[in-house]
Amino acid sequence: MICSSFGKCGSCVLWQMPYSEQLKMKSEKLKELFNEFNMPELEIINGNDEHFRARAEFRVWHEGDKSFYAMRKRKEDGRGVIPIEECKIVDKAIYDVMAPLMNEIEKNDNLRFKLYEIDFLSNSKGELIVTLIYHKKVDESIAEDIEKLKEKFKNIDFIVRRKGRKFVFDKNYLIEELNINGKTYKYKIIENTFSQPNRKMSEKMIEWALGNSKHLKGDLVELYCGNGNFTIPLSENFRKVIATEINQESIQAATFNADINGRDNITFLAMSAAEFSSLKKDNSPLLSSYDLKNVLIDPPRAGLDDKSRKFVNDFENIVYISCNPETLKRDLETLANGRKIKAFAFFDQFPYTEHMECGVVLEKM
Ligand SMILES: C[S@@+](CC[C@H](N)C(=O)[O-])C[C@H]1O[C@@H](n2cnc3c(N)ncnc32)[C@H](O)[C@@H]1O
Repeated sequence: MICSSFGKCGSCVLWQMPYSEQLKMKSEKLKELFNEFNMPELEIINGNDEHFRARAEFRVWHEGDKSFYAMRKRKEDGRGVIPIEECKIVDKAIYDVMAPLMNEIEKNDNLRFKLYEIDFLSNSKGELIVTLIYHKKVDESIAEDIEKLKEKFKNIDFIVRRKGRKFVFDKNYLIEELNINGKTYKYKIIENTFSQPNRKMSEKMIEWALGNSKHLKGDLVELYCGNGNFTIPLSENFRKVIATEINQESIQAATFNADINGRDNITFLAMSAAEFSSLKKDNSPLLSSYDLKNVLIDPPRAGLDDKSRKFVNDFENIVYISCNPETLKRDLETLANGRKIKAFAFFDQFPYTEHMECGVVLEKM
């Protein structure tokens, strides 16, 4: 991939390295990091190295009567942001509207004044949610200007935000379609809630989790389930699933998603992983009808807190999806005791960056 922002933008730090070398470098790093464990061979799962991000956030840089998208500077160039001409890692649908959208905003003082950030979310059909974030008072009167934008960009729903207020034109969600092992799954994705940034890689991660849990007996518990991204396809491998997540809106979306995909063996609960962990300790009747043998976890970068790690450690089999190898390693120091590591994968969700997403399957010996 060649991008005119390479060497200026602080996002693609590996811009000088060919993609195949990035994969090699990252997989070597992972092998070395997990050297102390008895790991099986690392599966390297890559996707597109261009136009792969289905969501992206840009600051806005104003200069005279021009405005530009901006990204944080490279570390070596100091703090702050720098204007960029393009971003090649975003979905083609996002890429195609970025410049024309900024042109329209430049022509409209009301839309442009104190516009601080623009966020994009796209789906596989090329529909978008664009969120305009302001550092000024905004009221309903902005609707007139947004309607003019909507006439030009028929595939975009707009959201306008300023501290504590939000205006939605016309909806705040997209319906995404993922193709998993040849089958289509639909997902409602709500703006400003977690969704996997790399659609193709998300499909491959789900296929990997499906393949590695097919033979497991008992029911499934899932922590950090988001909008049901893994839950819904994986529910086909289990009799019953109970899935939890801290974000209320994500749980609403997950419940909707189970319904539109015809899954009726899942219970979703909005609660933190630590709160859910206490239910088991307290022998809650909520859990009494489950055969609690298997757990799937996909925590944020911080990994598992102490309470949740203890809870997860009580299960026989664990599927761990991690966006931070350092916290995965810390958690494995507990979870690998008495279990065999049956699968280890590197999903290259974030080409051109140093970030690494991994999957590990642990089964009771
Ligand atoms: C890496 S995302 C994974 C989401 C989902 N598995 C997916 O594939 O889209 C982590 C999720 O954990 C949720 N989360 C963050 N802290 C949490 C906590 N303490 N307890 C439960 N969920 C939490 C976030 O809202 C987010 O949806």
